[in-house]
Amino acid sequence: MKWWQRSVFYQVYPRSFQDSDGDGVGDLTGVISRLDHLVDIGVGAMWLSPFFPSPMVDFGYDVSDYCNIDPVFGSLSDFDRLIAEAHFRDLKVVIDFVPNHTSDQHPWFVASKSSKEESNVYRDYYVWHDGRVNRQGKRVPPNNWVSHFSGSMWTWDEGRQQYYLHQYAVEQPDLNYRNPLVHAEMERVLEFWLERGVDGFRLDAVSFLYEVENLEQDEELINPSAKGEYHRYLHTLTKSLSETHEVIGKWRELLDRYEHKLQKDLQVHKRFMVAEVSGGVELQMPYYRSGAHMPFNFQLTGMNRNRDSMWLAKSIAQWLDSMPDGCTPNWVLGSHDIKRIASKMGSTFINVMNMLLLLLPGVPTTYYGEEIGMVDTDVTYEETQDPQGRGAGKENYKIFSRDPCRSPMQWTEGTHSGFSTAGKTWIPVQGNFRTCNVETQLRNPNSHLNIYKQLTTLRRKKVFAEGNFDFASVNEEILSFIRFHDGERTSLVVANFGKSPKTENFTSLNNPRRMYYPKTGVMTFRTDGSPEAEISLSDVVLTPGEGVVIEFHPLR
Ligand code: GLC
Ligand code: MG
Repeated sequence: MKWWQRSVFYQVYPRSFQDSDGDGVGDLTGVISRLDHLVDIGVGAMWLSPFFPSPMVDFGYDVSDYCNIDPVFGSLSDFDRLIAEAHFRDLKVVIDFVPNHTSDQHPWFVASKSSKEESNVYRDYYVWHDGRVNRQGKRVPPNNWVSHFSGSMWTWDEGRQQYYLHQYAVEQPDLNYRNPLVHAEMERVLEFWLERGVDGFRLDAVSFLYEVENLEQDEELINPSAKGEYHRYLHTLTKSLSETHEVIGKWRELLDRYEHKLQKDLQVHKRFMVAEVSGGVELQMPYYRSGAHMPFNFQLTGMNRNRDSMWLAKSIAQWLDSMPDGCTPNWVLGSHDIKRIASKMGSTFINVMNMLLLLLPGVPTTYYGEEIGMVDTDVTYEETQDPQGRGAGKENYKIFSRDPCRSPMQWTEGTHSGFSTAGKTWIPVQGNFRTCNVETQLRNPNSHLNIYKQLTTLRRKKVFAEGNFDFASVNEEILSFIRFHDGERTSLVVANFGKSPKTENFTSLNNPRRMYYPKTGVMTFRTDGSPEAEISLSDVVLTPGEGVVIEFHPLR
């Protein structure tokens, strides 16, 4: 197995992880000082959200220089130190690659908008259009496309006298992948970071690289009353076009070339690529084929208190059944774009969701703070910084703002929870930090943190690391599955996602594989931290939010 197939991934949002210089914003030196935490909780790889120079309109996802570090986060030498310190601890480092758009402050865009003359090499680095003249004789964009952050996908540039396309904010112009020069530039960016020793990339918003060639076509309005303009349209003209997959294939070849190059120096260094694509399994699966090691699987992030175990089982099965042969599944619970688990499900379900994440087959990704069960913080409309929140307007900002899940990591019960010594942090620390923090939870053996650690230890067992998967029983309350492997004891994982206690009798279950449950097994894990004990398989009692793992030798 490759390193990425064995690792628990952990997303660090650098602005919010650890501030080392007291400006209220996290930085790379801060991340370095917290690497031991990652090791302690059993993480093998981290994914770092952007730290490149940026005007921070979309908090780093608007890059103005792909090959440098924003001063707020530190310097290239801090980055080199981060790589060295991480590798020294056997931690891999995956960085964010933002290929779809740059910042409007990027020198390429500044040059591109300066003139449409042929002599301008940067002329076609972005997607430009004259627009059309409507019936009232007014100049308007060439089509009805709306951006992710609301408003037209087109913005008029006075200087160049043309519209430019932006799938995200006005300040995030889309690069033009119909221009070979753009491909060459972006390949150089990948090489720059590969040379610096990164272990892989997360391809940001990669399904939006291409738009249809004929820009004078409207997208279909499918849901006129949807909150958030973007969700009203079907995005067949602007998302996951087949050309996108060719580019991903080329990037994968580049990564593989690097692997061989370094192997010659006897340094085996496998590089990794994960695609960020949303929109459902059908849209996501092709990314496994075109070159990504995996597309992030967001199925579990759809779980909330109105959904039951059957819903969960269905979405788990959907991923596993749709995946091309030989590929590796993966699971995500949260990210810097999604409401936190504790806020969606209530704190009762934190441990059991982490149990699912860590014991399903494949690669888990934990968003920072999920190991201690952090809760979204409250941010008023006036304080809202996220362009997606502001774009939604005062009435709907709470549905769309991503500020609440980006609050600072909670380390201690001290000021700003040990995140920063500043007077004010860039987003307020969530008010529950005196009880919900790493230091406090380390002292309590049954805390979310220690339960998380038990789970990352458990998943190292062969049966979880490499074993097969099958559902055991599923009903509205109970979701259960087995993990099994030749020559190993089978593990049965049982969880209650319902609204009332439930007793499950496994000894009476029919099993398609003709594997029968014995009367008793050994409980190796329980979400309340109970020690290992013998347990009867004919009456497994679980209250909502409880989960257990039971190990046994199946009867044949
Ligand atoms: C991705 C990022 C998100 C960002 C967007 C535009 O979806 O996860 O945070 O706003 O891309 O770069
Ligand atoms: Mg694009």
